[in-house]
Amino acid sequence: MAERSGRGPGRHGLKVRVKTAKKRSAASTRWLQRQLNDPYVARARQEGWRSRAAYKLAEIDDRHGLLRQGARIVDLGAAPGGWSQLAAERTGSTDEAPLIAAIDILPMDPIPGVVILEKDILDDDAPAALIAAIGGHAPDIVLSDMAAPTTGHRKTDHLRTTHLFEVAAAFARDVLAPGGTLLAKVFRGGTERALLNELKRDYMKVVHVKPPASRAESPELYVLATGFRGRDDRSEDNE
Ligand SMILES: C[S@@+](CC[C@H](N)C(=O)[O-])C[C@H]1O[C@@H](n2cnc3c(N)ncnc32)[C@H](O)[C@@H]1O
Repeated sequence: MAERSGRGPGRHGLKVRVKTAKKRSAASTRWLQRQLNDPYVARARQEGWRSRAAYKLAEIDDRHGLLRQGARIVDLGAAPGGWSQLAAERTGSTDEAPLIAAIDILPMDPIPGVVILEKDILDDDAPAALIAAIGGHAPDIVLSDMAAPTTGHRKTDHLRTTHLFEVAAAFARDVLAPGGTLLAKVFRGGTERALLNELKRDYMKVVHVKPPASRAESPELYVLATGFRGRDDRSEDNE
């Protein structure tokens, strides 16, 4: 149950305070209160984005210019679909010639210009299915906003999301077109030095980004790796 009190960023400029309910945990009460008072959540609803996460990608793209017209993109952990919506819009993807392949274990409503796979990225046949979805071409961009369902145990959540980041990085290394880009979520302190070094070897530039739409108190940030050197270069580097 929600009640309005005082001034703030909630609907109609009034802060929404959530009362605790018997069946709701303290954590979900906090989550609900944050959602109801989050200006990005209200804006996403008004502007027709599936998630407030769309603004994180929009802000990163506005600053770093990733989503060019015609770019082919794989979106890992795409539900409910804000990133895919934005990617389809900014690349000019259509149902006739889709440029975007999205995967999630959760079901997603259709998005024009996006081929959606309801599947686990860890399934053996997932990588091939994603590439087939964009006509067998190497993607120019791999996006990953994947996060494991939170357990409330900080260390466990951290380890699981770090693992998903590693999966995204390995997938990108296997499939990206030369010059390609990887943008993937990681938790603060979660990018192991060894993995960062590997990324620096594989890409011309590797930076961490924290867009304004990512809540300051959230441990998430994104690794943005641009200028994929290609698999051949990499094996030469190793010699
Ligand atoms: C933060 S949400 C993504 C939000 C999305 N970027 C958007 O704009 O709507 C993280 C997603 O990662 C998905 N996910 C977690 N593990 C996954 C896996 N192994 N394979 C596919 N998706 C996964 C979750 O189901 C969840 O929907």
